[in-house]
Amino acid sequence: MKPMVKEANEAAAYIRKQSGHRPAIGLVLGSGLGVLAQEVTIADVIPYGDIPHFPVSTVEGHAGQLVLGELEGQTVVAMQGRFHYYEGYGLDQVTFPIRVMKELGVETLIVTNAAGGIQVDFSAGDLMLIRDHINFMYDNPLMGPNAPKWGVRFPDMSEAYDPSYRQLARRVAEALDIPLQEGVYVGLTGPTYETPAEIRMFRKLGGDAVGMSTVPEVIAARHAGIRVLGLSCISNLAAGMLDQPLSHDEVMETAEQVKPRFIRLVKGIVKD
Ligand code: 6GU
Repeated sequence: MKPMVKEANEAAAYIRKQSGHRPAIGLVLGSGLGVLAQEVTIADVIPYGDIPHFPVSTVEGHAGQLVLGELEGQTVVAMQGRFHYYEGYGLDQVTFPIRVMKELGVETLIVTNAAGGIQVDFSAGDLMLIRDHINFMYDNPLMGPNAPKWGVRFPDMSEAYDPSYRQLARRVAEALDIPLQEGVYVGLTGPTYETPAEIRMFRKLGGDAVGMSTVPEVIAARHAGIRVLGLSCISNLAAGMLDQPLSHDEVMETAEQVKPRFIRLVKGIVKD
């Protein structure tokens, strides 16, 4: 994988030309959670297709645009729709927007996703603060030559999900009376959901939720020194936990129900 420093610079230069906003906070909005971008005011909206070198997203429920503006008094850049490994993009493409955010001056990243619950106490509709992750994608966005401009060859991942941000998130959730689970996110390639045997394995290995995103973006962000806060919307319980097959429709439907709580929580976190 190539680091794409020049490309990220060109993309950032284009974005700075289109918008006067200079965001310090980046948001990655996962499946069904893109509505949060509608809360951004004095917004400049830039379709991914207009940005030099940007991949274009293909999945339903992902709008595919950058939204720059104000949220709770902070200047933010939100990705409405992300790029997934299962779509066929390389991890250099999946993480390209994170590199562009870095070039734009982003210092804090809030990553969100829809995930399957594997922890037995979880229910569909729960929100989970990501404490840590397990990279089960058999790949890493930092493979290949390192870009010293962005970070070191062997980045530390011991506090990938910033402990003080996690504390902040718990405090905000409590103040807003929003129940918040906490756990370990297992990042998989997809696009198949897991088998019941795989889910039993991931539970034994210490996972609390499974999903098909987030891990590459967090690796790229940590490489570049961006502090990360991660939130999963538990859209369903994983295979073998209930007597029903999994469907993308269910994932989208639950995301729909959780939206108001999710929006209140993220806004509260951004505000503080
Ligand atoms: Cl059960 N598995 C994976 N890999 N991703 C998901 C999911 C399950 N539910 C929502 N996203």
